Amino acid sequence: MSNQNKLNELIDLRSKARLGGGEKRIEKQHEKGKLTARERVEILLDEGSFEEYDMFKEHRCTNFGMEKTKFLGDGVVTGSGTIDGRVVYVFAQDFTVFGGSLSETMSQKICKIMDMAVKVGAPVIGINDSGGARIQEGVQSLAGYSEIFQRNIQSSGVIPQISAIMGPCAGGAVYSPALTDFIFMTEHNSYMFLTGPKVVKTVTGESVTVDDLGGANVHASKSGVAHFVSDTEEECLLLIRKLLSFIPQNNLEEPIFTESTDPAERVDDVLNSIIPDSTNQAYDMTEVIATIVDDNEFLEVHKDFAKNIIVGFAKMGGQPVGIVANQPKYLAGVLDIESSRKAARFVRFCDAFNIPLVTLVDVPGFLPGTKQEYGGIIGHGAKLMFAYGEATVPKITITLRKSYGGAHIVMSSKQLRGDINYAWPSAEIAVMGAEGAVEVLYAREISAIEDEDGKIKKAEEKKDEYNKLFATPYRAAQYGYIDDVIEPRNTRFRVIRALQRLQTKKDTNLPRKHCNIPL
Ligand code: HXC
Repeated sequence: MSNQNKLNELIDLRSKARLGGGEKRIEKQHEKGKLTARERVEILLDEGSFEEYDMFKEHRCTNFGMEKTKFLGDGVVTGSGTIDGRVVYVFAQDFTVFGGSLSETMSQKICKIMDMAVKVGAPVIGINDSGGARIQEGVQSLAGYSEIFQRNIQSSGVIPQISAIMGPCAGGAVYSPALTDFIFMTEHNSYMFLTGPKVVKTVTGESVTVDDLGGANVHASKSGVAHFVSDTEEECLLLIRKLLSFIPQNNLEEPIFTESTDPAERVDDVLNSIIPDSTNQAYDMTEVIATIVDDNEFLEVHKDFAKNIIVGFAKMGGQPVGIVANQPKYLAGVLDIESSRKAARFVRFCDAFNIPLVTLVDVPGFLPGTKQEYGGIIGHGAKLMFAYGEATVPKITITLRKSYGGAHIVMSSKQLRGDINYAWPSAEIAVMGAEGAVEVLYAREISAIEDEDGKIKKAEEKKDEYNKLFATPYRAAQYGYIDDVIEPRNTRFRVIRALQRLQTKKDTNLPRKHCNIPL
């Protein structure tokens, strides 16, 4: 064969590989409102940056006459590229080839780029669109999954791992995304479940649709499995790019600092009056966040799950930070099982990847009741305390209003190695609120009063007394648990200054195999 013919052969093979399962199946994919694996990779990566590997790899299965049906690349597109000029590794399952089902060779392709990503120290992004284990391959497919899972585990906390679900993701296949740091889903065509509606019906008798069982909205709001939901695939892929702008390439690097045009010394008078006079009245913590961060830009994670706590990324003075904030607008910002789990996972991610934590506190306590106790709030609350206590990144805490009891300790208190703990003058830092305290301390004295009005009057008197003494930041400040009481309008520049001072912070944990966080 002449060299020209060899060249032509390469060109032919490449165009054949690029067609995946063929034009008809691509058309079908488009009809469902879905992009192909290659189209997704194109949107995700910087233009022209994609280097594809293993384009000519084929499956080796001979069961069910499979040797007669082979597709170049075998159902997954893998390679490296850049996002905003920084290297990432990518795999995108190709539903047009055997429904994107996972074969032994597909697993080998995915594992190859996962290994490269660890060696290079770069994030891995997996785009999932698959009918699960390649049925014709049986246990080889299962082994293939296991190889991926093991790499997910080994890479955790070393390189960022991101999963996008853009089609089916069912059965044990859900565990690769579940082991990664962030799961993105799209509103339409994307679902995740361990067992599908048919099996559910057989086993439990429950009738449920695919969407109600494992659609994006279910995982974003009920299970908390999905961190981000987008309307379209394009929006989803662009959101992944955005997320990566806050995150370093690996655990040994710092997140990228960018010069900000938003002045660090910007003060906002609106913050001086944002806390209502009545302590039981709500306000929107997202307004506080938007006011203090660079250009009012906040990327909220887990937006629709456990809304009583807010977590997400922003920049302050150009420095990427992770923000954790109680939300008084939902359940008065109380800590419960779901909010504790949500925040604990976020704090651990930030700590693993050297992202400083800014915590905004307005928490009345832990949610009481049998539902919470039976659900194990003790263990879940401990997760959040553990996460903060073990974190060695710079930790800056601002107490805006309530900070009571165990919840006070959990929310990045001084004793959990909070570096800088500020409070607004409206802060109330105490063991419990006035209502509960008066109930415990003066129940007998009050019940001895005969007339009802007298009882109420006495209780109010005692509550006022308690509030004057304890519902302030100054008790905590007297003991140095609060480093300063600051004017709310100065919050932005006080936090930025603290971040600058803490840039060279070094802290460690004792040597050990690993901790035993109450999972
Ligand atoms: C081999 C598969 C496949 C699979 C789909 N295909 N799933 N081939 N193994 N798991 C093929 C189909 O035969 C078809 O081939 C093409 O992909 C497209 O599938 P359709 O059914 O036409 O597509 P659609 O109607 O969109 O339905 C998608 C689907 C359905 C809901 C995912 O295909 C389906 O139910 N597949 C089986 C799912 C499943 O039970 N997987 C195993 C789960 S157990 P042609 O040639 O006609 O285009 C598992 C264990 C993992 O995954 C454990 C890990 C630890």
